[in-house]
Amino acid sequence: MAERRTVMSDSVELVEVELAERSYTVSIGQGLLGRMEELLARPYWRRVAVVTDDRVGPLYGATVVSRLKGAGLETFVLEIPSGEPSKTADRAVEIVESLIDSGLTRSDAVFALGGGVVGDLAGFASSVFKRGIDLVQVPTSLLAQVDSSVGGKTAVNVPAAKNQVGTFHQPVAVICDITTLGTLPEQEFRAGLAEVAKYSVLTSRPWGRDLAGEAASLERADAPRLVRLVKECVREKAALVSADEFDHGVRHHLNYGHTLGHALEAEGGYGELYSHGEGVAIGMVFAALVSEAMGLAEPGLADRHRRLLADLALPTAPAGQVPEYGALAGRMALDKKSTGDTVMVLLESEGKPVVKRGIDSGLMEDCYARLIS
Ligand code: NAD
Ligand code: GLY
Repeated sequence: MAERRTVMSDSVELVEVELAERSYTVSIGQGLLGRMEELLARPYWRRVAVVTDDRVGPLYGATVVSRLKGAGLETFVLEIPSGEPSKTADRAVEIVESLIDSGLTRSDAVFALGGGVVGDLAGFASSVFKRGIDLVQVPTSLLAQVDSSVGGKTAVNVPAAKNQVGTFHQPVAVICDITTLGTLPEQEFRAGLAEVAKYSVLTSRPWGRDLAGEAASLERADAPRLVRLVKECVREKAALVSADEFDHGVRHHLNYGHTLGHALEAEGGYGELYSHGEGVAIGMVFAALVSEAMGLAEPGLADRHRRLLADLALPTAPAGQVPEYGALAGRMALDKKSTGDTVMVLLESEGKPVVKRGIDSGLMEDCYARLIS
């Protein structure tokens, strides 16, 4: 699935997402924004809208615009306020209206330049604008590079729960420039590591065990190691997406830690108390506790999760304003995997995920009590 090729003098790692006529390549490397046009081959585009946020735009917008203009494309920039509160239907409609004002047609493209919020929002807008135009994901946060830019899920939030309105709209290309991680705030970098930790406990490949041993020594400045790490995660995701594009089976595994994680994010006011990554980290410990309590996993799984996450400087339990279980249970019931019952991704052990339905609510409440004790 993965190969390596040389573009000009620097190497780019490539991972193919195999989806028949919707297949695409994820390019991973250093300094890719400065030569992005080499990684794209869509001769029919005339206009491009670069959707970004007000933190990422000032840092990287000019580079992207100059490369696209240099390639002969009429280029527009649409900037949204950064952060999870921007992931709304109103904001998506604003983007669609700007695409209309900018004269884009179905033969043009949207570039999502930013973290997962920009990716999900611009992805959603591009999927409904004229019933769908080309989307290029240019993720600039670690979380977006290892996870959200790949796989075609787009979404906006509603007050009751996350990602309740969305589509599947695969990008035509994903460009992960590791160099952009140099300006990512430390807390956001850590949030991305939560998804890396998730992949590491889901996989049976050696890199997952290696991460557990080496997590504490992971240096953000170690670009070659980051390239490898992003590539390993993208390979894990690509395999599950290729096997189950529309999330009816094995793709559920990617939601490990997300059942409680999404509920914490929504209950915490979308970013005010918990970022997506922090919610996932805490949710992983909760899922491990449920796995142990159901007798699926041997005791010790939750403690190994806690050690791994602590080594990555991630939270392992809610702190400060601890939400009531009842409020979280209501939100967990809205999980998109649910068919009216409680459903969670659990682990028999590292590398052995299972999806369980109809989990006893009393057992879950007991596990939450143990999580916050
Ligand atoms: P984010 O997009 O809010 O980015 C985090 C912060 O970092 C923002 O303030 C952003 O402006 C800033 N930022 C991003 N890149 C930067 C850079 N290079 N330099 C400086 N600042 C930078 O959040 P996120 O953690 O990237 O993504 C979280 C979102 O992703 C959530 O909404 C979550 O639901 C979604 N998600 C989607 C999928 C999917 O499959 N579609 C998967 C996982 C998560
Ligand atoms: N992040 C979950 C998925 O892409 O399926």
